[in-house]
Amino acid sequence: MIRCNDVQEQAQDLTEAFFEQWRNVLSTGDFILGEEVTRFETWLSGRCNGAQIVSMNSGTDALILAMRAVGVRAGDEVITCANTFIATVGAIVAVGAYPVLADVEEDELISLQTIEPVLSDRTKAVVTVHLRGRPVDMVPITAACRARDIAVIEDCAQAIGTLIEGRQVGTFGDAAAFSFHPLKTLGGLGDGGALVTTSTKIAEYVRGLRNHGLRSRDEAFGFGLNTRLDALQAAALNIKTHYLDLWLQRRRAIATYYDAVLADTTTGSDLGRGKAGSAYYHYVVRSHRRNELQQYLAHKGIQTAVHYPTPIHCQRAWLASRSAVSLPVTERLAKEILTLPCHPHLSDSDVEKIAVAIRDFDLK
Ligand SMILES: Cc1ncc(COP(=O)(O)O)c(C=O)c1O
Repeated sequence: MIRCNDVQEQAQDLTEAFFEQWRNVLSTGDFILGEEVTRFETWLSGRCNGAQIVSMNSGTDALILAMRAVGVRAGDEVITCANTFIATVGAIVAVGAYPVLADVEEDELISLQTIEPVLSDRTKAVVTVHLRGRPVDMVPITAACRARDIAVIEDCAQAIGTLIEGRQVGTFGDAAAFSFHPLKTLGGLGDGGALVTTSTKIAEYVRGLRNHGLRSRDEAFGFGLNTRLDALQAAALNIKTHYLDLWLQRRRAIATYYDAVLADTTTGSDLGRGKAGSAYYHYVVRSHRRNELQQYLAHKGIQTAVHYPTPIHCQRAWLASRSAVSLPVTERLAKEILTLPCHPHLSDSDVEKIAVAIRDFDLK
């Protein structure tokens, strides 16, 4: 089976390197935060234009603390999209705010045009999701939000390596949340995340909140979370950082190949339409016969996935407590999208096999 992700292969390739690094960590006795975590934060800061980094337990916690840091409070409205992982909206609910869902463009991304109809006097923040590693058009959104005193938080969980004019996303808004979940392009061997910000005030506040709100061992300035990054996770990530650019390069090369070979098929090429700066965390095509195509590919030994089959406003979690929302583009795309394998462990012949299978399906 050609698999949709390479989590296992990556872990196997790097097993020896992990154990060697972990032996050092074991000898220090520093298992939470510490040197490896500082090294990882310094590396991420370098990728993000020297921004401040507060690593933590997950991307979800980074979203929650980003919202608290920009002043989102109970009853505030926070705008985001519905075609995202549940955590984006879950984080808004976790701080007691009211999620307001905007539709997306045909490239699956939220835009100023889709946000504008749902802006209100109660809008406190907008969470832009760089879905699939595709860059949201941030500049008009941040300009419009700044003019209205609305905070902008970037959900960069899928966007390590995503660029806008050569600059890593994550410093266009007030704060950003990254995820280092094992499935991510840069994934640990367990949960991990980071808040990124250019604001020293936000960074210091969140650095306290990730550690129970403690300023020192015995002095708490507020009530926070226990969401620190473990040294063993940071050590694993510090090994993977050496490979990240190679992995990103390979993802882009595979995407370029698919773009060329699939352009004249009915699925077409990636829904991001070759958008510059995409990190191709997912490569997504669409088909009116999506389920049939997925089954056809499975029979040929090709695993695919649907990210995400049920938009948030169609989830039981939403319907149980909130009023109905109509998001026509989001709803239509959810029925048609299919994520193809696009990761560094695919061989050229795997990639060719996938493209040929889609072309064959087209002729059926
Ligand atoms: C778009 C998006 N937002 C948020 C998250 C949450 O990240 P984590 O799993 O690290 O909590 C994820 C990850 O799965 C994601 O894909």
